[in-house]
Amino acid sequence: MKRIARDELWPGMYVIGFRKRDGEDAVTVDRPLLSREEIAETVPEGVTVFVDEEFELSEWITTHIGLEVERERRELEEAKLALETQHAELEHERNRFRQEVADWHEHAMERAASGAKAREEGNAKRVEEMARMRKEMAAARKSRQEARSHKQAGVVEEPPQTPIEEEFPRADKLYSDAVSYARGFIDDVREGKPFDYRDSMPTVDGFIDSVFRNESAAAAICKLKMYDEYTYTHSINVSVLAVILGKRLGLDRDQLRLLGMAGVFHDVGKALIPDEILNKPGKLSDTEMEIMRTHPAEGYKILKGQKAVPDVVLRAALEHHERYDGRGYPRGIKGEKIHLMSRIISVVDVYDALTSKRVYKDPLPPSKVLGMMYQWRLSDFQPNIVEHFIKSLGVYPVGSFVRLSSGEHGVVTVLNSSMPLKPVVKVVYNNRMQPVTRYSVNLANLPSEEGALAIEDIVNPDEHGVEVASLLQ
Ligand SMILES: [Fe+2]
Repeated sequence: MKRIARDELWPGMYVIGFRKRDGEDAVTVDRPLLSREEIAETVPEGVTVFVDEEFELSEWITTHIGLEVERERRELEEAKLALETQHAELEHERNRFRQEVADWHEHAMERAASGAKAREEGNAKRVEEMARMRKEMAAARKSRQEARSHKQAGVVEEPPQTPIEEEFPRADKLYSDAVSYARGFIDDVREGKPFDYRDSMPTVDGFIDSVFRNESAAAAICKLKMYDEYTYTHSINVSVLAVILGKRLGLDRDQLRLLGMAGVFHDVGKALIPDEILNKPGKLSDTEMEIMRTHPAEGYKILKGQKAVPDVVLRAALEHHERYDGRGYPRGIKGEKIHLMSRIISVVDVYDALTSKRVYKDPLPPSKVLGMMYQWRLSDFQPNIVEHFIKSLGVYPVGSFVRLSSGEHGVVTVLNSSMPLKPVVKVVYNNRMQPVTRYSVNLANLPSEEGALAIEDIVNPDEHGVEVASLLQ
């Protein structure tokens, strides 16, 4: 260590510290001062400076700068590594994003392709359908021309459906006989007498023939001939309506006969339910309801006790209160486990019950009931069966008394299955309910423009003292 005056201090000397003149304040510096500015800032005027005389600036610079360089190199290395890592992450992220975009694009292309394919198929189907319709219309035109020429040549033309006016009186007679038959066997059951299910065959066959001649006549009779004896009429109504629905579903005559008989006997168990429960004007108590709910099993037992009753008829009695979703009774079975015939019977059973007058309720209009059943088709019934039933009865069933948009009133006589809102209406009264010269209008043949003649509402004929049955004959 060497002691020197401040003025002797040169840049590059290693300053250990300094002392003021009075000798009191020794200050430690312990580093080389590298410029005059640094000396001026660090060492006050007039002090004695202690320096390391053996200090080699070049060596210090080499070592110090070397270390600095090394540190900077390391820092740069670390920064580089960090940047590389960041870059790799960014690259990864970018690739992932690119992949996502590519996937999305591919998916979108696939969807577009499948949509285009579906549209193409749809268009092809529509074209096919239109070609088929054109073909059918051409065939119908041809057969009409042929029929006309046959007629001119004296060949008798076979009408596709017997007119309602012709079939209605026949169906009316069949219906009265059928109700008498139902009264007979139900009374026998009540008295514990045996009966032969085969006795129902003429009745059922009669209705099948009637339905093949005209699908609407027997159905119209069921709703227009309101007897007070629901127990008897209900079994016949269910039989008739089941035959109509079964025909629509493509059943053959033998199957329709079984179905018709299943309809006749489906509620036979009710013969054992006390009258005060069957015809109670108010709501049934829990106990009464429990008794009422025994009728399917009781019916099954009654039929099983008769001679050789077909299985289908037995099952319809047992299963007609089962529901397609399993919420029915007595067994809570569902879907296809319920026999097809029982599924058909359950649809028409509900329709007839709701459209019939009972001591505890007024009848609901058929169009309203069909609407309700359409709502229930996904829970209570097999959906397509309800839809076929609605198609076979029509939105405005034959026999509906309606008001047209002209104010005139009439009765629906012929359904139009392709345009269910536009049947044939026989106009009978004007807008003030005064009789007019009767004429029929096929609403489907009118131009479908705004203000065209259409059905405006269903009217209750009883409120106007109109007997619809007489208008159908
Ligand atoms: Fe029942």
